[in-house]
Formats: sequence, structure tokens, C-alpha cells
Amino acid sequence: MSKEQHLLKSYNLNGLELPNRVVMAPMTRSRANNPENKPTEGLHDIYYTQRASAGLIITEGSQVSKEAVGYVNTPGIYSKEQVEGWKMVNNKVHEANGRIFIQLWHVGRMSHPDFHNGELPMSASAINPEAQSFTPEGFKDTVTPKEMTGEDIKRTIQDFKNAAKNAMEAGFDGIEIHSSNGYLFHQFFNGTSNKRKDEYGGSIENRAKILFETIDAIKEVMPEQKIGLRLNPSLNGIFGMTMDEETIPTFDYIIKKLNDYDLAYLHLSEPFNDVSDVPHAVTEIAKRYRPMYNGTLMINAGFDQESGNIVIEEGNADLVAFGKPYISNPDLVERFAENIPLSGWDTDTFYTPGEKGYIDYEAKARKQEA
Ligand SMILES: Cc1cc2nc3c(=O)[nH]c(=O)nc-3n(C[C@H](O)[C@H](O)[C@H](O)COP(=O)(O)O)c2cc1C
Repeated sequence: MSKEQHLLKSYNLNGLELPNRVVMAPMTRSRANNPENKPTEGLHDIYYTQRASAGLIITEGSQVSKEAVGYVNTPGIYSKEQVEGWKMVNNKVHEANGRIFIQLWHVGRMSHPDFHNGELPMSASAINPEAQSFTPEGFKDTVTPKEMTGEDIKRTIQDFKNAAKNAMEAGFDGIEIHSSNGYLFHQFFNGTSNKRKDEYGGSIENRAKILFETIDAIKEVMPEQKIGLRLNPSLNGIFGMTMDEETIPTFDYIIKKLNDYDLAYLHLSEPFNDVSDVPHAVTEIAKRYRPMYNGTLMINAGFDQESGNIVIEEGNADLVAFGKPYISNPDLVERFAENIPLSGWDTDTFYTPGEKGYIDYEAKARKQEA
């Protein structure tokens, strides 16, 4: 491969200079196993700093409130201790010349009463996703959630706004709203999980409303140029999501309306599984949405060096987010630059506490340079 790789070209992200177009995708790693669920020194700072040569790091999903949680040991961004923890991480990442956004997360019904003192998790409607929640006692079946009241929705939007404000205080370069992968916003978008009769259900516009109200609220505490968001239009059969005839028209509506904003980026996922036989699914997400969206388009899921360079070259995306390759290749950018083969990842340590499988992957490309 020639040195002229599209992935390695710089990019201006609405004012933030990225030295390359290789993005670290958001990944839950469940290392915040402390009473405050905060990022800790010697662990989170090392993990992210090791990956600072990425054009952009997007952190693991971080809950915007106590209510928003659904997985064990994930960090939050709602308490003072958590903000301090993230500040420490960000200082180190910036010292290492990195750039870092935080992913703001509310899992909605993808949770369990064990996280909420026995109370039910909340969602658009009282419909069980028939999935599993990763609780402190291991995987447990999800339950039928409580349908959110108007007050619950208002409070949740406020929680996102507070979390965004906290993110700015903690020194992040921006935020990503996790409106993807079957979590709270996605539960509102989808007609099979949203049967509401009020202004947040029924029509496509109503089902998308909570997202735009959240963006508008966040814009009051930070520049919209630093707000990104993530969507997974063809998610089907995973995380409780089932596509119907209105699913793609809903995403078409949302993505066209995002043109009214001047956001940092739109982060899209190609289908997580084979959807070629799924009714109403779109198999090529970047190709469909590139012509509909005027801003920066980031694409993810299943890319490697070659396909990542091609998707940019063909004009279907501006940035490419890499997930699993970043777990085991902290020096992914340098490996691409030097055409060094990638190391494989160990799925057994994706979510286990401690250093193993987290900060002990070798940066081979950097060692060779030294
Ligand atoms: C261990 C692990 C944790 C993940 N956690 C998150 C998360 O917190 N937020 C999110 O939006 N996606 C999450 N994902 C999905 C990734 O961001 C990405 O979409 C997925 O891994 C596909 O990209 P890849 O083929 O490059 O790995 C996670 C994936 C993995 C493997």
C-alpha cells in the first residue's frame, strides 16, 4: 500500500485539527470498579494515553446519571469525583497530543432492577427487550421497564445537559450522544419499542423528538460544533431491536434534520450482522446516508486498513472509527503507516477488571521506531 493513505490525511473537525482520520470507537471496558464509578489513575489514563495518536478518541459509553446505567463498572459523568477522574485522563491525553470526546449514555430498558434499588428501569414504553443485562452478579434477563412520564423525559434531557456541562469542565474536546445500539434514544425511534400516545410517540417526527430536544438542551452549555452523535439504522435482532417499515424512513428523517445543525459529526454504523434477508433493512449505510448528510460523516463497524482507506477514497465517509482493532493495537495509526500486521484481541478480557487485556497490549510499531 502506498504511503498516500486516506486514513492518514489530516482533517479539520469543525475547528479541531485531527492529524489523521483514524478514530477510536467508543468501547465499554468496565474498569471503573470503584464505589464512585470514576476513571482512575494508573488505569484509564494509561489506556487512553496509549491510544493518543488516534485522530480522535471517543471514550466508552459513560452514564449521564445513576438512572442511566445498565452495565457493571462503567464510568459516569454526573458526579464531582467522576469529573475529577476524567479531568485527570484528559490532561494526560492532551499532554500526549491526543484529542478526546466522551460518549454520553443512557441505556433505558437495557438495564435491570439490581442497578436501581429494585425499581424498574425506564424506556419509551413498557416493553421488555428480551435481552440480558450485565449486572454485578453476572448476566440477568431484562424485565418489562416502566414507561417514562413527561417528567422522566424532561429530567433525562436535563441529565444529558448536565453531563455535557460536566464534560466541558472535565476538559473533553467534545461529546458524542449515544443514540444508537438499542439504548434509550433508539428505543424512542423504533416503532416496536415505542407505542406512546403522547408527543413522543406515534409519528416519525414525534419518535425523534427526544433526540432533538436533547441536542437543543446541550447546545445551551457547549458549542454545537463539539457535539457528535451516533446512529445504527440497520440494527436488527440485537439489543432488543426489530426493524419495521418505518425504521429507515425514521433515520432518513433524523439525518436530514441534522443538516439544520452544525454538529461535529454524524457517526454511523454499518449493520452489525447480516441483514441482507431482513425486510426493510439497508445493507450499505454509508452509501445511503452520505448524499443525505452535509456535515462530517464517520463510519464504523468491520473496517480494516484497506476498506477504511477505500471508504474515504470513494467519498462515502470522512472518518473511520475502529473498535476491536483499537483494543489490541494501541498504536493502530503507526501500524497503518508502517503496514505492520495487527495483533488480535482477547474477548475474555473485554469487560474484566484490571490491567490485563486493557493496558498490556504492545505498541509494536512504536518499539521498532525506538
Ligand atoms: C468491548 C466492546 C465494547 C463496546 N462498547 C460500546 C459503547 O460503549 N458504545 C458504543 O457506542 N459502542 C460500543 N461498542 C461497539 C463499537 O463501538 C463498534 O461499533 C463495534 O466494535 C464494531 O466496530 P469494529 O468492527 O471496528 O470492532 C463496543 C464494542 C466492543 C467490542
